[in-house]
Amino acid sequence: MSSTVTVNPAATETALPFYLPTGREVELCEKAHRSQLPLMLKGPTGCGKTRFVEHMAARLGRELITVSCNEDTSATDLLGRHLLVGGDTVWNDGPVTRAVRSGALLYLDEIAEARADAIVVIHSLTDHRREIFLDRTGEHLRAGDDFMLVVSYNPGYQRSLRELKPSTRQRFLAIAFDYPGEDDEVRIVATESGTDEATARKLVRIGRKIRQLTELSLMESVSTRLLIAAGKLIAAGIPPRLACTTAIAGPLSDEEEALAAITQLIEISI
Ligand SMILES: Nc1ncnc2c1ncn2[C@@H]1O[C@H](COP(=O)(O)OP(=O)(O)OP(=O)(O)O)[C@@H](O)[C@H]1O
Ligand SMILES: [Mg+2]
Repeated sequence: MSSTVTVNPAATETALPFYLPTGREVELCEKAHRSQLPLMLKGPTGCGKTRFVEHMAARLGRELITVSCNEDTSATDLLGRHLLVGGDTVWNDGPVTRAVRSGALLYLDEIAEARADAIVVIHSLTDHRREIFLDRTGEHLRAGDDFMLVVSYNPGYQRSLRELKPSTRQRFLAIAFDYPGEDDEVRIVATESGTDEATARKLVRIGRKIRQLTELSLMESVSTRLLIAAGKLIAAGIPPRLACTTAIAGPLSDEEEALAAITQLIEISI
C-alpha cells in the first residue's frame, strides 16, 4: 500500500480530543456533515487541521479513517484490491470503500499529491451521486447519510507541488486554517505541552516574531506544533534556550544566516 492509512474508532462525547476553535469551523463542519457536503481544509503545516478532523470525528460520533496521500496513491489503493489468501483470491476493501460502507469520516490528507486516477474516484463521491464504483467486483456503493469526506490541500504553502483542477476543488466547501491568535495559541501551547502559561506566552511571542521575519524566506514559518515541542522540552527540564534552538530554529532552516537570526531572536526573548 503506497499511502499510510490510520483508523481511529469513534470516540465518546467525554473523550473529545482537545481542539480550541479559532473561528466558526466547528459549526461549519457540523452543518456540512448534516448537508452531506464535502469539506476542504487549507492551511500551513502544524496549524491544527488534523487535530480539528480528529475532534470533529469524535464530536459527530464517526469513526475516522485517514489516508496520507502521496504521488503513488492510486485508485486501487483507495478502493481495494484482490489479494491471494491461501490459494484463493479474496477482495480486500481499501480505506475509501471501508469508509463508505461504515459511514465513517474519511480524511484524505494532501489530496493533491495523489495520482489522477485516485482523484477521479473522489469525483462521484463528492457530487449528488455520493457513490463509488468498484470495477473489479462490479459493485456500486452509495454513501449513507453519516459518511463525510474531508480533504486537506496546501497549495500556497509550497508543500504541494501539485495543483488541484477546478473540477475537483469546486466539489468542496473550503475552510482556511492559519496560526491562532496570541491568546488562543498560548492556551494551546500550555495545554498541549504542559508548560506554565508564562512560558507558553514567551514561546508564542517568539513564534509570532519569527512569522514576521519574512526576509528569512522560509518555506513555511514556525508552526504551533513546533512551539508545543519546545514547550514539551522545557517541561521535561531542558533549559529554555536549548529547547527553542532544538525545537524551533533547527527544524525551520539549514541556512546559516536564517539560523543566526532566529537564534538571536530566541536569545533576547527567553
Ligand atoms: N486549535 C487547536 N486546538 C488544539 N490543538 C491545536 C490547535 N491547533 C494546533 N494544535 C496543536 O498543534 C499540533 C499540530 O497540529 P496538526 O497536526 O493538527 O497540524 P496540521 O495542520 O494537520 O499540520 P500538517 O499540515 O503538517 O499535517 C496538534 O497536535 C495540536 O497539539
Ligand atoms: Mg495534518
